[in-house]
Amino acid sequence: MKDRFLRALKKKPIDKTPIWLMRQAGRYLPEYRAIREKAGDFLALCKTPELACEVTLQPLERYALDAAIIFSDILTIPDAMGLELSLVENVGPVFNKPIKNISQIKQLHIPDPYDTLSYVARAIKLANNELNDLPLIGFAGSPWTLAAYMVEGRSSRDFAKIKKLAYSEPEAMHLLLEKLSKSVTSYLKMQIEAGANAVMLFDTWGGLLSQPNYTNLSLNYMEKILRSLEPLGVPSIVFTKGGGMWLDKIARIGSTGVGLDWMTDIKVARQLIGHKVALQGNLDPAVMLTTKTLIEKEAKNILDSYGMGSGHIFNLGHGITPDVPPENVQYLVDFVHAYSQQFHDQSTN
Ligand code: CP3
Repeated sequence: MKDRFLRALKKKPIDKTPIWLMRQAGRYLPEYRAIREKAGDFLALCKTPELACEVTLQPLERYALDAAIIFSDILTIPDAMGLELSLVENVGPVFNKPIKNISQIKQLHIPDPYDTLSYVARAIKLANNELNDLPLIGFAGSPWTLAAYMVEGRSSRDFAKIKKLAYSEPEAMHLLLEKLSKSVTSYLKMQIEAGANAVMLFDTWGGLLSQPNYTNLSLNYMEKILRSLEPLGVPSIVFTKGGGMWLDKIARIGSTGVGLDWMTDIKVARQLIGHKVALQGNLDPAVMLTTKTLIEKEAKNILDSYGMGSGHIFNLGHGITPDVPPENVQYLVDFVHAYSQQFHDQSTN
């Protein structure tokens, strides 16, 4: 069943629970590390459509995954805005020109994706040609999460700079989020036109916010983006890491699915919002470092907790980490497909 992922997202009957993994193309795969070395650096890999396409397909050659996600990064937008992204070994992404003052925010331009980000559309077209009707997921960062990196300049433990800006300069903060929302909207529209079958918003740092600020600075802007994409009719998934206590709000912004981190109880989430949206998640990525026995036990627990019927897309609660043994992924994918059949009515398939 090639459309298992899309059917589950729309809660249509399926034969087994679909599975894909956030960061499924990445450093835990030796073939990824080889191509990354060949490309020279991470950004060159993202910006060379033939290589980005090849890396997108790598996990699908190994595993019976139900979807591909285009190989890229959420930070391509700030890079296209002129902040100059680089990936520094043992540090992570760093901007050479982070946002330091309000006049920089005023001067930021909204990139034309067909110009400075067209490499992503080309990679999507190439990957789609190879996927044989298996769905391809496009993605972007949420405006808040992008702003967090742009103001901090890099990953941070407490994101104090962006939070200080949010409290003390709300107008500048909203101007930045407004510009990012427009950028994300046109970027995702381009990805959909290029052939993305679903889109996902990664709100990795939404969980850092107080409840009112989460609504004002993250959720409202994601809603704006989703409402603009609605006419295109492509399903969407919103993932706020640390957003478990705001699920009722997240389920009301117009996405087809909601991603759950591993801190959230999927059974409770289903009771709360399962009638409105599909749920994606939510195995603790750390489980993937352990044994097949433990992977089976924890995956079983999630599938049992969701229970009968469509509307669940199995995934991790956050991205897969570089030290996961590739054979553990094989085990998880095959286990989820085999064990989940009891939760679906086989006579309707
Ligand atoms: O899921 C996929 O396979 C698609 C590719 C993908 C990447 N980044 C590739 C990548 C996706 C969907 C992302 C999203 C992303 N990027 C997020 C949101 C999801 C999340 O994990 O919270 C964030 C916050 C970023 C920013 C980013 N890019 C960070 C923090 C890092 C460093 C972390 C690390 O693992 O080193 C990156 C680099 C990055 N993006 C790598 C990959 C495969 C590692 C690059 C390498 O060293 O080769």
